Amino acid sequence: MKLIEDLNWRYATKKYSTRKVTADDLEKIIDAINLSASSAGMQTYRLFIIENPEMRKELGSDSFNPQIVEASHILLFAAFDSISQATIDNYIQLVAKVREMPVEDLADFKSALGVLLTRTDDENFIWSAKQAYLALGTGLIAAATLQIDATPMEGFNAEKFDEVLGLKDKGLKSVVLLALGYRDEENDIYAKLKKVRVPKEEFVTRIK
Ligand SMILES: Cc1cc2nc3c(=O)[nH]c(=O)nc-3n(C[C@H](O)[C@H](O)[C@H](O)COP(=O)(O)O)c2cc1C
Repeated sequence: MKLIEDLNWRYATKKYSTRKVTADDLEKIIDAINLSASSAGMQTYRLFIIENPEMRKELGSDSFNPQIVEASHILLFAAFDSISQATIDNYIQLVAKVREMPVEDLADFKSALGVLLTRTDDENFIWSAKQAYLALGTGLIAAATLQIDATPMEGFNAEKFDEVLGLKDKGLKSVVLLALGYRDEENDIYAKLKKVRVPKEEFVTRIK
């Protein structure tokens, strides 16, 4: 399976070359991320593609991750800070439109989603952030299949990203980053290191 080869090839790149990811490839990765599964299909997170070098210098100034500045692109996954009746209504409208069906036919689905309104904003943010992490994984896999290097990153100042990108006004909070680009093989010691994974016998319990 080619995907296993690709997953062995990929690693969390620490040092990037100056080579840029093409607009075409970037779009493929964005499409894959958008196609990621999410709970109830609601996609209660958004994606920001950050290229601007000046902004990235500022965003990465207090992070231990030079990739924020050096990678070709930085993708930020940001999750909704709350879920309202309007969030649910908008989603139901979208489903009805795409599937060309009357909104009334979705009444049971809409009512089931009402459970989200019984939770606290914090609980819903954590739920949305979990969906964002799943999308992060989809992005990592998509990049690997294109032989594009990537780094998932939690090491960044989320409050600063929120502020610089004006996320509060958009009802969003930063969750996790994905750097994209091409490895600097000579200068990234991680490029040659063996992959470390828990042995399968220990990792997997097979119940027959
Ligand atoms: C959620 C998450 C956050 C991570 N944060 C960082 C980070 O801030 N900086 C970094 O260089 N690597 C980061 N990593 C990369 C991991 O250290 C790396 O995936 C792990 O060591 C396994 O190695 P591999 O991905 O190279 O196979 C992160 C990975 C994940 C999944």
